[in-house]
Amino acid sequence: MTFPLERPRRLRSRPALRRLVRETRIAAADLIYPLFVREGIDEPQPIEAMPGQSQHTLDSLTREAEAALKVGVQSFVLFGIPAQKDARGSQAWADDGIVQRALRQLRDAFGPDALLIADLCLCEYSDHGHCGVLEGETVANDKTLELYQRIAVAQAAAGADVIAPSGMMDGQVGAIRTVLDREGFSDRAILAYAAKYASAFYGPFREAAGSAPRVGDRRGYQMDPANGQEAVREARLDIDEGADIVMVKPALAYLDVIRALADSTEVPVAAYNVSGEYAMVKAAAANGWIDERRVLREILLGIRRAGAQMILTYHAKQAAADIPCWDELG
Ligand code: PBG
Repeated sequence: MTFPLERPRRLRSRPALRRLVRETRIAAADLIYPLFVREGIDEPQPIEAMPGQSQHTLDSLTREAEAALKVGVQSFVLFGIPAQKDARGSQAWADDGIVQRALRQLRDAFGPDALLIADLCLCEYSDHGHCGVLEGETVANDKTLELYQRIAVAQAAAGADVIAPSGMMDGQVGAIRTVLDREGFSDRAILAYAAKYASAFYGPFREAAGSAPRVGDRRGYQMDPANGQEAVREARLDIDEGADIVMVKPALAYLDVIRALADSTEVPVAAYNVSGEYAMVKAAAANGWIDERRVLREILLGIRRAGAQMILTYHAKQAAADIPCWDELG
């Protein structure tokens, strides 16, 4: 009797065995928690489409970071919402701009225990909501790079460990690397939003950051969701320009892109589990339609299995607190 020679079920028969052969694990330290800080508010403002997330005051930001650090999340990416927006987005590089103040405050509070990543873009700071300098209806690439350089220096001076340009301008990584090195910040890393798609999954974020474009859309600079090979090219360009980490965003509809970058590059790959992905889980869970804990574990495992070493996710604090119990779930 030769049938069946192989019985994969043998390795699934007991919890200890399943744990032993488990290929993918997630640690709290793999997660990066995105946080919003808003200028000119006295109380944190809950974000309707992102239950559990708020636009923070400087104080509530520090408290939220502390709570996340307690459960093992070490890394944060900061988004600022200024009180005043203008055509150029000048609060993005103001020394007392809200993100610069937040960086200093978190560094004062936590020292080197917190890894501080600054998202670098103009859409939250410009009155038109585009990610760069608007000329007519197009975003002027090279003029935008000059402003990105100012922002990078301001963020580095305020203590950012990592600069994360998200505007999808050509040459943005090289421009930022050059200016950081010139200004004495050669130790600061660049996490490049290398393959950032023009995605409807950013909807809740744009509500949270007040950053929806007034006219037009971002398809002139963000990638076409139909393209995968182009992501490999974008990542290669960013690495050649000095990116230390490359990111794919969003995550779930782009797991193949994460895998392609993991296979084709030598630098670590990050994935951004974006606001719309978070909102869908929260909405379904609130209706009792899915088991939130198990779905969340599965989502994060899937992103890791696809090849992302680190995950930016609004679930970070919640997931980190639950991770010690995950082996019992499966
Ligand atoms: C742009 C930026 C966006 C996100 C992060 N950085 C939005 C956009 O391109 O409109 C989206 C993040 C999310 O949806 O969670 N600075």
